Amino acid sequence: MVSRYRPVTKTITHYAANACLLPICQLHGAAITTVEGIGSTKTRVHPVQERIAKAHGSQCGFCTPGMVMSMYALLRNTPQPSMDDIAEALAGNLCRCTGYRPIIDGCRTFCQEANCCQESGVTNCCINGENGNSDEAEYPQLFDKDQFQPLDPTQELIFPPELISNYCHWIFNTCQFLVFLQLTSQTPRPEPLTFQGERMTWVSPGSMDQLVQLRSRHPGAPLVMGNTNIGPDIKFKGIIHPLIISPTRVTELFETTQTPEGVWVGAGSSLSEVRTLLENLVPQYPPEKTELFRALIKQLGNLGSQQIRNVASLGGNIVSAYPNSDLNPVLAAGRCKLSVVSSGGKREVPLNQDFFVNFGKTILKPHEIVVSVFIPFTRKVQTFSTFVGAFRQAPRKESSFATVTTGMRVFFSEGSRVVQDISIYYGGMGPTTVSAVKTCAAIVTRQWDDETLGRAYEVLLEELVLPPSAPGGKVEFRRSLTLSLLFKFNLEVLHKLRHMIQPSLQEFQTPLPQSVSQEQNSQDPVGRPIMHRSALSQATGEAVYCDDLPRTDGELFLALVTSSRAHAKIIQLDVSEALKVPGVVDVITAKDIPGRKVRTMCGYDEELLAGSEVSCIGQMVCGVVADTRAHAKRGAAAVKISYEDLPEPIFTIEEAIEKSSFFEPRRRIERGNVTEAFKSVDQIYEGEHRMGGQEHFYMETQSMLVVPVVGYVSVAQTLGIPSNRVTCHVKRMGGAFGGKVTKTSILASVTSVAVTNRPVRCILERGEDMLITGGRHPVVGKYKVGFMNDGRIIAADIQFYTNAGNTIDESVLVIEKILLHMDNAYNIPHLRGSGAACRTNLPSNTAFRGFGVPQSLMFVENMITDVSMVLGLPADKVIQYMINMYRGPSVTHYKYQFNPENLLRCWDQCKAKSTFSSRRTAVDQFNQQNQWKKRGMSIIPIKYGIAFGEGFLNQAAALVHIYKDGSVLVTHGGTEMGQGIHTKVQQVASRELHIPTSKVYISETGTNTVPNTCPSAASFGTDANGMAVKVTCLKVLSFVQPWWVNVGKPGPVCLSRGPDLYMDWEAMEGQPYAYFTYGACFSEVELDCLSGDYRTLRTDIVVDIGRSVNPSVDIGQVEGAFMQGLGLYTLEELKFSPSGLLYTRGPSQYKIPAVCDVPLSFNVYLLPDSYNPHAIYSSKGIGEPVVFLGSSVFYAIKDAVAAARSQSGLAGPFPLDSPATADKACLASASHFTQKVRVGGSVGRWAGLWVGL
Ligand SMILES: Cc1cc2nc3c(=O)[nH]c(=O)nc-3n(C[C@H](O)[C@H](O)[C@H](O)COP(=O)(O)OP(=O)(O)OC[C@H]3O[C@@H](n4cnc5c(N)ncnc54)[C@H](O)[C@@H]3O)c2cc1C
Ligand code: FES
Repeated sequence: MVSRYRPVTKTITHYAANACLLPICQLHGAAITTVEGIGSTKTRVHPVQERIAKAHGSQCGFCTPGMVMSMYALLRNTPQPSMDDIAEALAGNLCRCTGYRPIIDGCRTFCQEANCCQESGVTNCCINGENGNSDEAEYPQLFDKDQFQPLDPTQELIFPPELISNYCHWIFNTCQFLVFLQLTSQTPRPEPLTFQGERMTWVSPGSMDQLVQLRSRHPGAPLVMGNTNIGPDIKFKGIIHPLIISPTRVTELFETTQTPEGVWVGAGSSLSEVRTLLENLVPQYPPEKTELFRALIKQLGNLGSQQIRNVASLGGNIVSAYPNSDLNPVLAAGRCKLSVVSSGGKREVPLNQDFFVNFGKTILKPHEIVVSVFIPFTRKVQTFSTFVGAFRQAPRKESSFATVTTGMRVFFSEGSRVVQDISIYYGGMGPTTVSAVKTCAAIVTRQWDDETLGRAYEVLLEELVLPPSAPGGKVEFRRSLTLSLLFKFNLEVLHKLRHMIQPSLQEFQTPLPQSVSQEQNSQDPVGRPIMHRSALSQATGEAVYCDDLPRTDGELFLALVTSSRAHAKIIQLDVSEALKVPGVVDVITAKDIPGRKVRTMCGYDEELLAGSEVSCIGQMVCGVVADTRAHAKRGAAAVKISYEDLPEPIFTIEEAIEKSSFFEPRRRIERGNVTEAFKSVDQIYEGEHRMGGQEHFYMETQSMLVVPVVGYVSVAQTLGIPSNRVTCHVKRMGGAFGGKVTKTSILASVTSVAVTNRPVRCILERGEDMLITGGRHPVVGKYKVGFMNDGRIIAADIQFYTNAGNTIDESVLVIEKILLHMDNAYNIPHLRGSGAACRTNLPSNTAFRGFGVPQSLMFVENMITDVSMVLGLPADKVIQYMINMYRGPSVTHYKYQFNPENLLRCWDQCKAKSTFSSRRTAVDQFNQQNQWKKRGMSIIPIKYGIAFGEGFLNQAAALVHIYKDGSVLVTHGGTEMGQGIHTKVQQVASRELHIPTSKVYISETGTNTVPNTCPSAASFGTDANGMAVKVTCLKVLSFVQPWWVNVGKPGPVCLSRGPDLYMDWEAMEGQPYAYFTYGACFSEVELDCLSGDYRTLRTDIVVDIGRSVNPSVDIGQVEGAFMQGLGLYTLEELKFSPSGLLYTRGPSQYKIPAVCDVPLSFNVYLLPDSYNPHAIYSSKGIGEPVVFLGSSVFYAIKDAVAAARSQSGLAGPFPLDSPATADKACLASASHFTQKVRVGGSVGRWAGLWVGL
C-alpha cells in the first residue's frame, strides 16, 4: 500500500498498487506499507490477515500477501466496505488455488451491510427460501467469525509526520517496514531531484517551470506518471530510456477547477481520483448536465483494475493513445479538450478525430505537456437531452483491455427526435481511436428511428472495415461488436434506460454435512475444518518460497536463452557479446553437461539444452550465469544464435495427422461391437469438437536454487554422479497444478550444470515460464454416436488427438487416461475409443490437473448435447440415469467393476439443491421475455478414477521422529503446493499418536529423509502419504507406548504399499484405479448475445469425497478446481503465431478467472454418508476431479446460445469449441448483427493459431 501526502488537497491518500510497475524513484516522499508491516505471527496478526487465513482463503499462499494488502488498503479508506467495494478492491488480484470464495468470505466479515441477495437486485432471494437452505443452518460452519479480532482503525500505522514536514531525509525504518523517502511537499522552492542508475537517469522536477525546461531540452524523454504504459515496455520489451522525467511533484498537474461549462481536471490525476471527483460532482448537478460524467464513471469502473487506476494518470491514458483506450472514445465523443503547455506557451487542443494520428501517436508536439483536461457538462434542450453512452467488451470483465470499446453522444434538436449532432468513436477497430464520421453523417438531421439506425448499421459496416490480417484478430467479432454496441446505445437512448443494478456476490453456501461424531475425542483433528497449517505465515508474508531464500555469498543467477525458431538447425551460437556484459561469469551450453545430456521419458530422449537442432520456439538452448538477475538477463539478450530453418514445421493436430507425426504407442480400447451396434440404432450423428489447451499459471513460477553438492535422480544423471550425492528440498510451492511434475526436473538439471563452486538461482519470469514449460494438451476429437429415439445411446466411437508438442513428456499417459475416462458416468454398451499424441513443433505439453480427463469428458458431454439437440430433448433428459447413466452393479469399458450408487446420489442431490426443475421453467420464461439476453443452464456428472495406473507409483514412505519433549517431526514424500497435504498429514499423525496437531511439525519434503517418492499427483497424495504416516505412527507406538513421549527416539521409516493397479492395453482390461470420486454440478448463466459477455448466476456442486480428513481443505480443492475448469472451458485462450510463437505470455494476454468470474451464488455440498474402504479414514482424493465440473458453465452458455439461435429459427446441433469465449458465444448466437458481418475470419499473423486447432 502506498500512502502519500497530497499538497493540493492537504490530505493523505492510501492506495494499493502493483509493485512490479512502481518504480522505486517514484516512491519519493511516499510511505510504503507491506504485508509484513501490518502484522506478524510473532507479535499480532492483523484482522485482515487473520480472517483470510482462518476463512481458508490461503492455499499455496503465493497470492495471499497481495490479497491482504488490497483488502487492507480498502479498509484504510473504507472501514465498513460494501460487497461491491470488496469485489472491486480484489478485482486486480489473481488467485489460482482457491476459487476466490473463501477469500471473499473472509473479507465479507468486514462488511456491515445485511447480506441479503434481494438488496443486490437478484430475483431469487434467500428471503423467499430459494437460497436459504435453512435445513443446513444447523451444520457447523467452516470457520467461526465470532472468534475474529475486531478491526480497530485507531490501531493502524500512522502516516509518518516527517513526510509532511519541510525537511528532506532518508530513513529506512526496518521495525515497521516503512520506507521513508525524501520529502515532496511544501518545500519552498523545490529543486529537481535526480537519481542515477546504471543505464538510466531519473529526474523529478519540483515546479512547472523546471518541467517545461526539461521537456524542451529532452523532448524524447518520457514523462512517467503511473508508469503503466512506459513500465511494461521497459520490463517486457527491454526498451531503455536514458532519461526519465517524473513530474509527480508538479502541483499544477493535480489541480481541479470547476467552471459553468464543466470541469478542468489535472492531467496528473490518477484514474481513481478522476472517478471519485466525477462521482462527487454528479449529485451536485441535474442529471442531464452529467451525462458525460456518468459515461466516464461507467467506463472507469471497468478500466484495468483498481491497482492500475490508482496510479495510471488521465493525461497518460490520453497521450498513450492506445488503440483500445477506454477513455479516449468517450472523451472525444464528449468533446473534451486539453490544456497544453510548452516552452512556446500554452494552448488548448480539442480531443477529436484529428488528435489521434497513429498507433500511440497524437498531434501533440514532443515537448508539449498536457496540464489538464476539460470535461464539459452536457446540455438539455426542452424535453430532449444530450445522451452519452459508453460501452466496452473485453475478454474478461475486469482487468482486461477491451476488444472493442466505444463512446457515443447524440443531441436532438429542440422538441423533436431529429438528431442535431452526433459523434461516435470506437477503440479496438484500428491503430487509433477512430471516429465513425460517415455513420454520424448518415444519422445527423434525421429522425432517431429504426430506419435511420438500419441505414447507419450498413454505413458503419462499410466504414469500419478491418482487413482479415488486422492486429488482434477476431475480425468478424469486432466488426459485429461495432454494430451491436451502437444498437445498445440505441436501446439506451430510446428507453432512457434506468441504471441497471449489477447483482453482487451473494452469501456462499458451504455447509458441512460431515460434522464429526460426538464420540470423537475433542483432540482428534481428523474430519475437522482445520486451517491450512501455513495460512497465517502466508498471510503475514513470513512463509518462505524459493526466491525468498536469502542470497548467499557469491550466489549467481541463471537466465535462459531459448530458441526463436520452431524447427531449425543451429548454425552458430555466439556468446562472445554476452560474456562482455558486466557481471556475466559464464554461459552454459549442451556441451557443458558432464553427465546425460538428455532425459528419457517413455522411451524418447529429450535434450536438456538443444544441441544442434531446435524443435520449438521456447526450447532452451543455453543459460547465462551472472552475479545479478539483471546482468544475467542482459547477457541472455546478447547471445546470438543463427539458424537454418528446416522444412515444414508442424503446429496443428491436423498437420500432424496428415504427416503421421505421432508419439508411440497410440492407444485403442473397445467394448461390445461398435460397428455392428451402429446397424441397429434409430439414429446416427457424427460430430467434432475442438478444445484448446491451458496454461498452469501457478502463481510461483518455476524456481530453483542449486547450491554446490546438491538435486536428485535427474540432476544426478545430468551431473554424472550417484543419487546419494544429490538432495532435493521442497518447503512449499506457490501452486503447481501438474506443471512441476516433470518440467522442474529439467530446469533443475540445467541449473545444476551452471553450479561450480557458487550457488546458482534460477527463477523464471512469467513470460519465460509460459513460453518454456507447456501446459494442458489441446485436443481435437471426432465422434460417431448411435442412439434410439428415446435418447438411449447404444454405440459410440470417439477418436482423440492431442497436441503433445515437441517432446513426449507424459503425453502417452495422458492419452491413456483420456481413453479410460471416455465413458464418464454413462453405460454405453458398445464403446470404442482411439487416441494419439501428435508430435508437433510447439513447446511440449505436460501434466495438468485432471491429466486428460477434463478433455476426455468434454467430448462425451458434447456428444450427449448433440444427441439431445437432434432429438429436441433437454440434455439432462438424455443424461439422466434412467436412460444412460450407470446404475446398479456396473462394469466399465475396461472391465472394472464398481457400484455407481454415490454417483446417482450426487446427481439427485445436485438436482434437488439447485431446484433444477423450477429453474428450467424460470429460464425458459426469461428467454421468452428477453430478446438480447438469454439464460442457459446445465447439469453435469463426473466419475473420476483415483490413483496411478502403475502399482509402484502408489506407494509412499514416511519418517517419524519423536523428541524428548514429546514433539514429533514428520517427513513424508508429498510436496506441499497449496493442496494442504501437510495439514492433513499433521491431522493423521495427531490422531494416531494421540497428541495435538501443535506437537506435530513437518519442516519440508527432502530426498535425504524420504527418497524415491512418487509424484504428489493423481489426487493420490493424501491417500498414499497419509497412509504411510499412519502406518509409521502405529509402528512407533507399538514399540514405545505407553512411555513414548519420554523416549526420545527416532521413529522408523515405513512404507505404505498402495493398491496394486494395472492396465493391460492388449487385453483392453485392467484395474487402473483404486476407486472413483463422484460428483455432479449445476450451473446457470446469463448471456448478453450482443457482446457475448456472460455471468454465472449460480453453481451448485455435490461431491462424494467419502469421509473428508479436512473438509475445509477439500472444499477449497473443489472450488479451486471448479474455477480452473471454468477458466479452461470459457476464458483461457492460448494463441500461437503461424510461426509457432506463443503470443499469450502474461496476464495481459492470458486471462485466468478473477473475482468477477466467481458464480454469483456458489454452493458446494459434500455428499453425506459416504465411506470409502480404499483410502485413509474412508476419505477420497479430490484434487483433480472437479476441474471437469467447470464445463457446466460451458454447457450452460451453450444452452443460452441455443435459445438465441432458436429465436432466429435455427435448431439442431451447432459447433461451439472450447473455450467458449465471448466472441465464440456471440458469433454462435447468430444475432442479426453477427449475420450482417461477412463470414471469413481472421487470417495472417493475427489469425490466432489455436494450439493444435
Ligand atoms: C495491467 C494494465 C491494464 C490496463 N487496462 C486498461 C484498460 O482496460 N483500458 C484502458 O483504457 N487502459 C488500460 N490500461 C492503460 C492505462 O490506463 C494507461 O497505461 C495509463 O492510463 C497511462 O497513464 P500513466 O500515468 O501510467 O502513463 P505513463 O506510463 O506514466 O506515461 C505514458 C505516456 O504518456 C506520456 N504522458 C504522461 N503524462 C503526460 C502529460 N501530462 N503530458 C504529456 N505526456 C504525458 C508519457 O510521456 C508517456 O509517453 C492498462 C494498463 C495496464 C498496465
Ligand atoms: S492461494 Fe491464491 S494462488 Fe495459491
